[in-house]
Amino acid sequence: VKILLLGKNGQVGWELQRSLAPLGELIALDSKSQAYRGDLADLSGLAQTVRDIAPDVIVNAAAYTAVDKAETDLQQARLVNAEAPQVLAREAKQLGALLVHYSTDYVFPGDGQDPWQETDAVAPLNAYGQTKLEGEQAIQASGCAHLIFRTSWVYAARGNNFAKTMLKLARERDSLNVINDQFGAPTGAELLADVSAHAIRATRKDARLGGLYHLAPSGETSWYDYARFVLAQAQAAGIGLRVSSEQVGAIATESYPTPAKRPKNSRLSTQKLQQAFALNLPQWQQGVARMLQEILETTT
Ligand SMILES: NC(=O)c1ccc[n+]([C@@H]2O[C@H](COP(=O)([O-])OP(=O)(O)OC[C@H]3O[C@@H](n4cnc5c(N)ncnc54)[C@H](OP(=O)(O)O)[C@@H]3O)[C@@H](O)[C@H]2O)c1
Repeated sequence: VKILLLGKNGQVGWELQRSLAPLGELIALDSKSQAYRGDLADLSGLAQTVRDIAPDVIVNAAAYTAVDKAETDLQQARLVNAEAPQVLAREAKQLGALLVHYSTDYVFPGDGQDPWQETDAVAPLNAYGQTKLEGEQAIQASGCAHLIFRTSWVYAARGNNFAKTMLKLARERDSLNVINDQFGAPTGAELLADVSAHAIRATRKDARLGGLYHLAPSGETSWYDYARFVLAQAQAAGIGLRVSSEQVGAIATESYPTPAKRPKNSRLSTQKLQQAFALNLPQWQQGVARMLQEILETTT
């Protein structure tokens, strides 16, 4: 099996380098790759890369993920999140390759309390969500074999993440306020990568498994409770904090204005995925605790 991975240095791309390696020959590119061009903004270069490599599986972990910047940089966001996936889908169809792609709960309007199902009506609240939706739709319309995973609140041990930011602020500041009216599940890049590898194997054996799936761990939380969980774990590990888990303040979305609107309900129903691939998705705390252990070990 020949696998082409795009966006190899992102949170998810980095973990995919690990989880896809045992499946076959892996060619992993980023936007600066030259031997094969890996820049999603270069549509003809991208098509040429796929033709030159002729992979059995294309995994697209690259995306324009600057949610607030996308509001004023719509053209570039659309190029990377919608037009590039359309090119990948066209080339995948031509080759008979399986295209694996990631999307977001931001395709939904973010109201209500129920976890979103794959069949629920979409209505993005912001430009990023709109371009990600257009990407999904282009892949579906192409008729190529595909797996699209919508996920939420992605974190990874590598690079910056919400947990590291909360730890830093709790050490440096006298008070810390976190939004408590947005709900979702923090999703580890490791989990996304491992489930992707499993689903790719299964879908190559049974093409009927292809399609759109929601992928996030079990359970739900708010950013406020997520922050409190992180600080409680740090305290238990003996890390000195100026703001303890109990002292975190709760604030409403309205008191933290951002250029792009954020959905209050990011809950995703993952029943379809769990049933189709016979998978059990762990509680979100498991992955976050693991990531924290990794970063706290290097802090102490
Ligand atoms: N992060 C989240 O909370 C979240 C939530 C829901 C869904 N998702 C989706 O999950 C997927 C993976 O996201 P992530 O969290 O891993 O994002 P990430 O860490 O921001 O990584 C995105 C990667 O895409 C690359 N990229 C950007 N523009 C590119 C271009 N023109 N050509 C090639 N590569 C380009 C970036 O490389 P450079 O840095 O070199 O530009 C970066 O390595 C994306 O589809 C995203 O939309 C993410």
